[in-house]
Amino acid sequence: MSESSFKQNPSARDLLRNVILIGFMGTGKTSIGKRVAHSLGFAFIDTDELIVESRGKTISDIFTDEGEDYFRDLESDTLRNCSKRNNQVISTGGGIVLREGNRQMLAETGYVIWLKASADAILERVSRNHERPLLHTPDPLQTIKDLLLERDKMYSASADFTIDTDELSIDETTFGICESARVIFAS
Ligand code: S3P
Repeated sequence: MSESSFKQNPSARDLLRNVILIGFMGTGKTSIGKRVAHSLGFAFIDTDELIVESRGKTISDIFTDEGEDYFRDLESDTLRNCSKRNNQVISTGGGIVLREGNRQMLAETGYVIWLKASADAILERVSRNHERPLLHTPDPLQTIKDLLLERDKMYSASADFTIDTDELSIDETTFGICESARVIFAS
């Protein structure tokens, strides 16, 4: 059963007109984010893409050559730069919520939506793409479960609105996000 829920009242914050998508790898942040941006007439930004462009190498190569901490620093810097503008849909890397400073920035940057999915659905979606260094393990399903256990509370604490995507199509999820964003930005 799919469900969507509001956790807090984002209109109580002094909200910038940005929609920010958070959630685990493979939850559709990029493909859905592009559609949401098109529908709302906002720019589309992907923090991973910006990092790849600025470093001129893949995320996997950054992890291998410079390490995860270095990548996390780039991720925080990228989010900080995005947080200065309005009218954007920002798709974030699945680990953006790990740092307290990032969670604070997310809250200040806009309307935060968590795309939630089960471990099985995530595994099926990520198995088509090998660009996820954290899942290069002998048992990716177990790794996904372990990471979800660690991260779910951080996604939940950061999210204004949660959408369980397991049983929704990309179009249905996009529609839900756009409708809720229109309500939030109109209030
Ligand atoms: C990561 C998620 C990836 C990317 C990096 C680390 C994570 O982004 O930022 O591989 O820690 O969950 P996606 O969520 O877009 O796959």
